[in-house]
Amino acid sequence: MYNPTSKRLLSDILNKRGKASLDRDFMIRLSANFHTIFSYFHQLYPLRDDVWDHLGTLVNRLADAYEKRPVALRKMDRDRELAPDWFLSEKLAGMMLYVDRFANDLQGFQKKIPYFDKLGINLIHLMPLLKCPKENNDGGYAVSNYREVNPELGSMDDIRKIAKILHQQGKYLMLDLAINHTSNEHEWAQKAIAGEREYQDFYYFYDNRHTPDQFEQSMPQVFPETAPGNFTYVPELNKWVMSVFHDYQWDLNFSNPKVFIEMLDNLLFLANQGVDILRLDALAFTWKKLGTSCQNLDEAHLLLQTLKACAQVVAPGTIFLAEAIVAPHEIVKYFGDNQGFSNECDLAYNATLMTLLWESIATKNNRLLHISLSNVPGKPLGTTWLNYVRCHDDIGLGYEDYHATLAGYDASGHRRFIIDFLTGAIDWSFASGRPFMEDKKNGDARISGSLASLAGLEKALRNQDEYAQELAFKRIILLHAIIMAFGGIPLLYMGDELGLINDYSYEQDKKKAHDNRWMHRPKMDWDLVKNVDVKGTLEYNIFQSISKMITVRRQSPEFRDANNLHIVDSGNQHLFVFVRYWGKHRSMAVFNLNDHREFLHVDVLNQQNFIVQSGLKDKYTGAALSCDWHGLELAPYQFYWITQA
Ligand code: GLC
Repeated sequence: MYNPTSKRLLSDILNKRGKASLDRDFMIRLSANFHTIFSYFHQLYPLRDDVWDHLGTLVNRLADAYEKRPVALRKMDRDRELAPDWFLSEKLAGMMLYVDRFANDLQGFQKKIPYFDKLGINLIHLMPLLKCPKENNDGGYAVSNYREVNPELGSMDDIRKIAKILHQQGKYLMLDLAINHTSNEHEWAQKAIAGEREYQDFYYFYDNRHTPDQFEQSMPQVFPETAPGNFTYVPELNKWVMSVFHDYQWDLNFSNPKVFIEMLDNLLFLANQGVDILRLDALAFTWKKLGTSCQNLDEAHLLLQTLKACAQVVAPGTIFLAEAIVAPHEIVKYFGDNQGFSNECDLAYNATLMTLLWESIATKNNRLLHISLSNVPGKPLGTTWLNYVRCHDDIGLGYEDYHATLAGYDASGHRRFIIDFLTGAIDWSFASGRPFMEDKKNGDARISGSLASLAGLEKALRNQDEYAQELAFKRIILLHAIIMAFGGIPLLYMGDELGLINDYSYEQDKKKAHDNRWMHRPKMDWDLVKNVDVKGTLEYNIFQSISKMITVRRQSPEFRDANNLHIVDSGNQHLFVFVRYWGKHRSMAVFNLNDHREFLHVDVLNQQNFIVQSGLKDKYTGAALSCDWHGLELAPYQFYWITQA
């Protein structure tokens, strides 16, 4: 929008800067976005009389960051402006991994890049790798320096080199920006501890428990077992600091515009290293207000919109992933909604689907899955999901309880059942997970465990039960087949492509023993990887099936995401069915959630315009499909990606 006041301010700022050298692309983007930035910034900091000074600093930081943006990345920005939907493509498939657990360090990682080609992976999320304390680091999510790589892993030069290599190969790089908090060893925290007022204002410090106690009345706890409460006493200052996650992760005070500008600067710095996707960690928590849960507040969205508008000026080719593991109707809000288009994150973790997949594995039916997915509000065009089955975190049962009620369950009993099932507390369950952050009072818990262990492989191997191993294998494949077809980027967790089971060695490591999420963060077993070429091995079966899925997905334009998903009620509660379409390309994906055979009624196919009489085939196997009078038969945990022959 054109606004004379903001125009005038921008001219003043640029005149003062005095350099006429800012190039055309930058000036076009700045002019297009400045009014938005100006107006959001005013809304975020309405009562500050120094707001214009801060805006001046902000614009200068944008210009500085742009001047430092390498020529190759500026070209990439222009290319992506011509193809802004690159991340909606069916040709993307990702993997997340911890560099040290995958290949010791970044040099080791470089040598292992061919592994991704073998599987078909072209987007790689390198888990937190910035400098952090040796012990108290929450798997790297407690950053002590946003400009340096953890020296045990390598250097920023390595990152730039890796980004370049990946780009040359048509691959993409994702890195984290832990935006909500820093480590208490970060320079700002250290200066705060040393008594510098300016840096104490970077965090939420309180002289006594009065305000913290008020906050506690409405703030939930993230790690109630190991890090209870949301504040930590700092003896050096005789003050309390807000620390929503661990006591060593101090929440940044974004109501201070300096914090906003410094974190924006860190974001642009990372973008300038060649990062394609920035994973914005713990996004729901960035704004705090007394009397609220301090999650998902309107200001947190405004802040994100401002960050996005700024990043679009400097590095429009770098996109944002929302790590907002919150209720389904809250997650979609992190895409933003600017009259139907995104103005916050381009991608978001599909935590709702992930949780419901595990719920369906436990119940063997689609009842809650269907009701929830059919009620999730639509997302804006031009955005997409990151679909995953497992990640480095626990599984939280983040669906809405009233959907469970609508599905015919007693909501709290159902939660209890899923927790007990996935943690193997029910003796007939096949899953080997463990409760994470159990609340002994109300029995609530999240769940840890690797995909293979939760899917039954660990128990089946322990019992040397071949049929159970076969079923576990089928569950692993089924879950991957769903995230490949659902719409969005499938993101594998390293090791799941081999069926790695829980790794209990963390219990012997005193830095990790208190956090059982380490059980599902195993080290890569490169000896086992050799088996992916050995026919008949479990690793071969899983790896090759996933690799084939990625290949077929790539050849299926209807699997790109253009909000082109239609969930189908097939009348059979054991089948999860949806249709994907794109122009003349159409597929019906059918997944049997049951460990018995099931039938898809012929009418369902015909109603969705998949004409049985004209011949149908399964895209995945290439086999022709035939129906008998029951319909189309699916073996236990079988799936089809059906298309007209
Ligand atoms: C995110 C990370 C999680 C971490 C938390 C705090 O949720 O995924 O691993 O503990 O943020 O940084």
